[in-house]
Amino acid sequence: MDKIRIRGGNRLNGEIQISGAKNAALPLMIASLLSDETLTLRNMPRLADVKLLQRILGNHGVDMAVDGKRPGQSDVHGETIHFSARQIVDTTAPYDLVSKMRASFWVLGPLLARCRTARVSLPGGCAIGTRPVDYHLMGLEALGAKIEIEQGYVLADAPDGLKGAHIVFPGVSVGATHNVLMAATLAKGETIMENAAREPEVGDVAECLNKMGAKISGIGSSTLRIEGVERLHGATHMVLPDRIETGTYAMAVAMAGGEVTLKGARADLVEALFPVMETAGVKMERINDGIKVSRNGARLHPVDVETQAYPGFPTDMQAQLMGLMTMADGTSKIRETIFENRFMHVQELARLGAEITLEGDTAQVHGAETLTGAEVMATDLRASVSLVIAGLAAQGDTFVNRVYHLDRGFEQLEKKLAACGADIERISA
Ligand code: UD1
Repeated sequence: MDKIRIRGGNRLNGEIQISGAKNAALPLMIASLLSDETLTLRNMPRLADVKLLQRILGNHGVDMAVDGKRPGQSDVHGETIHFSARQIVDTTAPYDLVSKMRASFWVLGPLLARCRTARVSLPGGCAIGTRPVDYHLMGLEALGAKIEIEQGYVLADAPDGLKGAHIVFPGVSVGATHNVLMAATLAKGETIMENAAREPEVGDVAECLNKMGAKISGIGSSTLRIEGVERLHGATHMVLPDRIETGTYAMAVAMAGGEVTLKGARADLVEALFPVMETAGVKMERINDGIKVSRNGARLHPVDVETQAYPGFPTDMQAQLMGLMTMADGTSKIRETIFENRFMHVQELARLGAEITLEGDTAQVHGAETLTGAEVMATDLRASVSLVIAGLAAQGDTFVNRVYHLDRGFEQLEKKLAACGADIERISA
């Protein structure tokens, strides 16, 4: 298995191109199931999760074609992929594929809406918590689906098609919002979804669905209104930039020091990050086509942060922030309110010399003056990158094992950091 070696101490200077957002690319790909015409997605990130979802969609009968590279186009620009679900040949999403990536469970709504039947494996737990799917099922039942759970599979049927409904989600769920929103586009009549997730990736999917002929209003708010249509058609859509990747590299620069332009980053998607970085003593400037991040000299200051659904501070940046705060000049308080077990990185950061105490959902991070490189293990996608961030400032070599977690969500991470001066390399096993 590949590992990443980082020798800490180098400052970062230069430019990093921000890729298309993984968390938008995946549901956008799934949206292709809703139409028998071609959905073309531009700015697609090259990620293991995208490849895996391509396999899953291929299983349902979706044809895919990737555009070749144009002259002058470099690797940093995303791919263009065409998805054509002319005919759905299989409405089952099997356990061996769904269990590898939770987001593939979201094929349930579109398959049900288009084929009136679907059989999708329950995704199971994962390292960051139990992650149930009750809101997904509640929403689809409200649209008139008959749902049964049998041998680890969700069997959903709506022989007469789905019908619009008024749905109030008991909690905010990104996945349930995607799943039910996609299904509702083809339901008869109007659907109102209250307490829907407001994450920008949900908005991006809704915009794309509207290009395909859906009638969704309230995009960006917590109440979505969907006027069902009979069919959706093809469209072309550009995936929005990845705000989690943006925040991650901002923290990498904050940790290492230096000045880096995050090209293509959208400041409006990471508003919650600005005050946190300012408190920490990191400069973030909105510029044309990106964000400039810099830190010079002085030590980082501690912060007090709580994760929240968008527009709050994202849980997907919590591990990275913790990595950063391991070297602040005081004690930071980081509270995780979205997932109950998202502190797997604490033990690994401790191996680098970080001092972190955990009490319930809150971590107290006592900043150290130095970290020391060590062998560490990636436990999940965001946790793995927090170890890279810590490694950028640790003395000596840090080896991050189980790099496949990183490859799920970060495109060419080591190349992007190395191009700015980091001493980082992938060691292939
Ligand atoms: C998505 C993101 C993930 C991010 C998370 C929260 C993608 C591919 N993944 O995951 O990166 O960390 O949003 O921003 O976009 N819940 C229930 N019942 C449900 C569904 C969710 O209780 O039916 C709970 C979960 O346990 C969790 C919370 O709701 O505590 C938020 O989860 P959710 O927003 O659904 O996360 P995902 O969509 O899986």
